Amino acid sequence: MTRMPSDQRVSGQEAGGELGLVAAADGLGAATVAGWSDAERCLVAQARRADGAGLWAPGFGADAARAEIRRGGDPLGEAFCALREPARRRPLGQTFTPPMIIESMIAWAAGTGTRPARVVDPGTGSARFLIAAGRRWPEAELVGVEIDPLAAIVGRASLAAAGLAARSRIILGDYRAVSLPPSAGPTLFLGNPPYVRHHQIGPDWKDWLRRTAARYGLPASGLAGLHVHFFLATTRHARPGDLGALITAAEWLDVNYGRLVRDLLLGMLGGESVHLVEPAVPVFADATATSAITCFRPGRDAAAGQAVRAVRLARVASPAELGSLAGGTPVPVQVLRDEARWGPLLRETAHESAGTSQLGTVGQLGTVGQLGTVGQLGATGKLRTAGQPGTAGQSGPPGQPCPARRARRAG
Ligand SMILES: C[S@@+](CC[C@H](N)C(=O)[O-])C[C@H]1O[C@@H](n2cnc3c(N)ncnc32)[C@H](O)[C@@H]1O
Repeated sequence: MTRMPSDQRVSGQEAGGELGLVAAADGLGAATVAGWSDAERCLVAQARRADGAGLWAPGFGADAARAEIRRGGDPLGEAFCALREPARRRPLGQTFTPPMIIESMIAWAAGTGTRPARVVDPGTGSARFLIAAGRRWPEAELVGVEIDPLAAIVGRASLAAAGLAARSRIILGDYRAVSLPPSAGPTLFLGNPPYVRHHQIGPDWKDWLRRTAARYGLPASGLAGLHVHFFLATTRHARPGDLGALITAAEWLDVNYGRLVRDLLLGMLGGESVHLVEPAVPVFADATATSAITCFRPGRDAAAGQAVRAVRLARVASPAELGSLAGGTPVPVQVLRDEARWGPLLRETAHESAGTSQLGTVGQLGTVGQLGTVGQLGATGKLRTAGQPGTAGQSGPPGQPCPARRARRAG
């Protein structure tokens, strides 16, 4: 990722707060990406009223931001993380994904030979996945689902600056609740579902989990984290012939509440591989959980006639070894079904793999940050100090008058 010289960076706090970021996104063409919501319009109206002109740091204007985005950088996502320190991003699991991980997941999808007609990112953030996917598949429709209006505006602006507005759409809403229109071809589900523990998930959504899982004949636990909800929602959105790669906390491999994910992967979600990144290696900067990348192809059982069905399990020593997620040891579904925990199997496959080069191609994508935060990305907002007094340090998107903000989470 190309970085600006540090003397051209100012912290988000100095930048005049979140309205400053909204104004910057507005200036980069956020409005040109389809799917605007009232909550977002409200934020933009406030930013315009607050006279957010001249928001960029000296020497770093909208043109420079656009150029950086086109080079693969994410200045708006960095500014977002600078404005909201980790404690304020945690309730929505707002951790953005290092480019190396995104490249591995896209390389896997490309290697399947399926050309997605549509790419869906559950929890879009600054649209890193959609931008990378849009470059890899020039025909694909790009759809982001994001619950936070500020993040949605940032994602829109980044897509617009990347030149992808015409085929992009962001839906402001809860990924579990939105309905996706039918697609003309296969959908690729690609993303980093928020890491939120069950304590922060309300009873309505726990009910939703139980009811929805029951429709598939599966039990679900109220202790499940939000990433489990996202796997289930993806199962609901997906059709046979689709494909997906999600990076999540790895807890579901071993804990009781993760059984739902394991059952889905052995059933209709069509699990293809799981890559566990060694717990010692942080993938994101501001979270502590171990991460796993799960690839799946709904309906692949039917296509294979239920023949020799197996899921590849791999454990890699660092994100740089993920490559195109093609490695791992195939473990028969029957074995996986009989195991209450998959973690031990992953450890075994790692030992086998060490001698047989089954851990996958070594990536050529550089180094990564850590699992759980935005660490590698740094607090590097590029908005200048002069701005809207009183907005710096707000704990959520500004704009009390936006009613949609208060109603955005059922859980
Ligand atoms: C881990 S971040 C990933 C962001 C981006 N996809 C990336 O990987 O760089 C998760 C995102 O999901 C959003 N989010 C949290 N809960 C959500 C929900 N229930 N529905 C949709 N989006 C949600 C957060 O606001 C955040 O932007």
